[in-house]
Amino acid sequence: MRIDSLQLFQFRNYKDVTIQFNPEIIVLHGTNGAGKTNILESIYVGTIGKSHRTNDTSDMLMFNAEEAGIVVKFEKKDTPQKVNIKLFRQGPKDIRLNDTKISQKELIGTLNTVIFCPEDLQLIKGTPSGRRRFLDMEISQTSATYYHQLMQYNRLLQQRNAILKEYRGKQNIPLEEWDLQLADMASFIVKKRLESLKKINLLIDLMNRKLTGGLENLTIGYEQPYMDNGSLEYTKEGFYERIKAALPQDRHRMTTSVGPHRDDLRFFSDAMDLKKFGSQGQQRTAVLSLKLSELEFIKSEVGEYPVLLLDDVLSELDESRRANLLQFIHKRIQTFITTTDIHDFKDLKSVQFISCEGGKVQYGQP
Ligand SMILES: Nc1ncnc2c1ncn2[C@@H]1O[C@H](COP(=O)(O)OP(=O)(O)OP(=O)(O)O)[C@@H](O)[C@H]1O
Ligand SMILES: [Mg+2]
Repeated sequence: MRIDSLQLFQFRNYKDVTIQFNPEIIVLHGTNGAGKTNILESIYVGTIGKSHRTNDTSDMLMFNAEEAGIVVKFEKKDTPQKVNIKLFRQGPKDIRLNDTKISQKELIGTLNTVIFCPEDLQLIKGTPSGRRRFLDMEISQTSATYYHQLMQYNRLLQQRNAILKEYRGKQNIPLEEWDLQLADMASFIVKKRLESLKKINLLIDLMNRKLTGGLENLTIGYEQPYMDNGSLEYTKEGFYERIKAALPQDRHRMTTSVGPHRDDLRFFSDAMDLKKFGSQGQQRTAVLSLKLSELEFIKSEVGEYPVLLLDDVLSELDESRRANLLQFIHKRIQTFITTTDIHDFKDLKSVQFISCEGGKVQYGQP
């Protein structure tokens, strides 16, 4: 997978630019606030139809503009493709693949990218929702059906919670139909997550051994807080029984307490829980291994490596981890790197330098 060019129109601080990229490493440099992350963000929008840093589409429109445009031209298995996205302050997005209108759901999985930003370093310590989002987005990029089911599940969940509120304090809530459907989708989602996690676990351990010289055994566990003794629930019938059993509690709290929206991932180095006991450095290495395994996972599912977007993250890694990462991507993975300091990249070969400043870009080093 490689991106050939990007055209931005009224996107953040870019009024109208077209940028051509080389197939290997692209270093986007410039001062703070220059617009480096904006470029990665626009590529990410081309991947899943929304931003990695805002849920509000209008944030991405240039101040005072009514619409914005992103055109990404890329090659997937050597076939040229074009994703064209128009964002509006009011009204839905217009997404086109090779000039044919498609839905956001159909877009996902077309252009594959992996983004790694400083916030990801918090993945292990951070909230369960961050870890779920990570896993869901990784699987969605390789399975449109998964994304579709996930969206439907979330919609159903919202409706169920609304019913719980509506029938507050009343008996006989008509939930049977919802719960059967919810159980069916919960089962699909959890099965797919477990199946993917099995593959990711093989890959992450491999990557971690490369990074640490084979000292520790890194694994990711799947957890359901509504199950005891570390057992897992993944059948439709099992979910239905659990959802039913939790109804008194759900009525009281007016929210749904059983299902994949509550599940979590836990990282272990050998038997040690990294969230609780891991050092900062161990957590960083684990996240880096996770990102590298994400590249391999997508490759194994899609048949080629995704494009890698590294937002400011190299400066957060120490010398040896950085060298390991660069060695891994070398000549394999088209990689976009943002930095305020090009010093670290001066010696790298096959690098394209692009400077960003005030909504303009220039090729070359300053
Ligand atoms: N909707 C918008 N319209 C116009 N300009 C915007 C909009 N949103 C953000 N900006 C501008 O974009 C700039 C931020 O861009 P970006 O986050 O890409 O910076 P950066 O180069 O990654 O900086 P850093 O090195 O600090 O991470 C800011 O100057 C901000 O004013
Ligand atoms: Mg930035």
